[in-house]
Amino acid sequence: MSNKVVINADVTKGTINKNIYGHFAEHLGRCIYEGIWVGEDSNIPNTNGIRNDVVEALKNINIPVLRWPGGCFADEYHWKDGIGPRENRKRMVNTHWGGVIENNHFGTHEFMMLCDMLETEPYICGNVGSGTVQEMSEWVEYMTFDGESPMANLRIENGREEPWPLTYFGVGNENWGCGGNMRPQYYADLYRRFQTYVRNYGDNKIYRIAGGPNIDDYNWTEVLMREAHHLMDGLSLHYYTIPGDFWLGKGSATNFPEDEWDITMQKAYHIKELIEKHSTIMDKYDPEKRVALIIDEWGTWFDVEEGTNPGFLYQQNTIRDALVAGVSLNIFNDHNDRVQMTNIAQTVNVLQAVVLTDKEKMILTPTYHVFEMYKVHQDAEKLALDIQSAVKKISDKEIPQVTASASKAKDGTINITLCNIDKDNEAEVNIDLRGANLSDVNARVLTANELDAHNTFDNPDNVKPVNYTDFQVNGTELSLKLPAKSVVAISIK
Ligand code: AHR
Repeated sequence: MSNKVVINADVTKGTINKNIYGHFAEHLGRCIYEGIWVGEDSNIPNTNGIRNDVVEALKNINIPVLRWPGGCFADEYHWKDGIGPRENRKRMVNTHWGGVIENNHFGTHEFMMLCDMLETEPYICGNVGSGTVQEMSEWVEYMTFDGESPMANLRIENGREEPWPLTYFGVGNENWGCGGNMRPQYYADLYRRFQTYVRNYGDNKIYRIAGGPNIDDYNWTEVLMREAHHLMDGLSLHYYTIPGDFWLGKGSATNFPEDEWDITMQKAYHIKELIEKHSTIMDKYDPEKRVALIIDEWGTWFDVEEGTNPGFLYQQNTIRDALVAGVSLNIFNDHNDRVQMTNIAQTVNVLQAVVLTDKEKMILTPTYHVFEMYKVHQDAEKLALDIQSAVKKISDKEIPQVTASASKAKDGTINITLCNIDKDNEAEVNIDLRGANLSDVNARVLTANELDAHNTFDNPDNVKPVNYTDFQVNGTELSLKLPAKSVVAISIK
């Protein structure tokens, strides 16, 4: 069957918040240490301790917002351990992630420096699980108060005169699990209490994000919205794509049986149902959609690479991950009325990373290339799009073979991104682009022959986007053949 897409170039459906393209970096495995922070004395080229190659790569995908310091780590993190002269900083055990020593060399000042280098907005996650209201309140004062106060004075003593602008602040992480094993009513009360002391100093206005549900815990959303929606700007949601079982074996990132391709696609597509069902509950308490759904952890989660520390969550990244990213981002764009931020887990060397490092070497993953191809949607106007796609039946679920997203940039360029999740068959697509002039069309494709095609330190360009010319223009119609397992980005000037 040929797949049909109708896009109306004159009908816009709100802005696609650039923060949908956000990232997440935790003190976990080799994400922060080695992946981002190598220290000033390292032989790896760095600026004030931060790797130059990684900064350059990340700048190229316009990371709009970066969540830190966790994850589960956030509810064990005591920010005062990570300020002041590095040689005096407390050494602690990272109990969640591998039981390794955390020397606190990467703390608040280093994170803010990284954000400056990346020209990205910080999103700080505070400690509810093992922290105090005072500790959280003082962190915000330390970062954002411009004047005479104990915490502002301490910041100045530590070398930073000006406060940092800080918008996004999360009040705890996974408080139903590693963040304190709480019940929703209890967390809702704690949220109300903690957020009271997350102050707006001067002109700095904090956007408060409450710890939200795990996957399909709709009761958590119900209770949080009922008890605290008026005190929050966003509610988080965490969902990982895991082909196997979380505890019994998630499945290999590379050497997987063919049917795991389909299962992975079906599980990735499940995020659509989760967004819609959580949004329906949110609509009940917030019909104006003032409170955003913030999907601040998503992505693939596979078994760790053989021979690596199981607590470091290091996995390879293949064309399958690229399809998961492409399908997910199309879904997020499509729900831009409620979804205002998402953060893929995690930026470097952990889970569905965009960048992998090995000592002084660095490679870009297929997922990186999807973020690069899709960056044109950031802060663009979403265009009305209807799609009739062939469906694939996977176990008892039906999912579309083709997903798509279209937006209009400020300069008038129309950008369309398409994914064909079918691992064996190409997809014929006819796009009727009403109201557009198709005289200047360019396209790129990301695809591969093998299901687990990936980049390695010896072969870093095995999977990368190339020009794509397999399309025909006829009036306002664009006909194309999407190769099996491909992500295509089309730009129309
Ligand atoms: O991203 C890895 C972990 O997954 C995070 O620390 C936690 O929030 C989630 O369970």
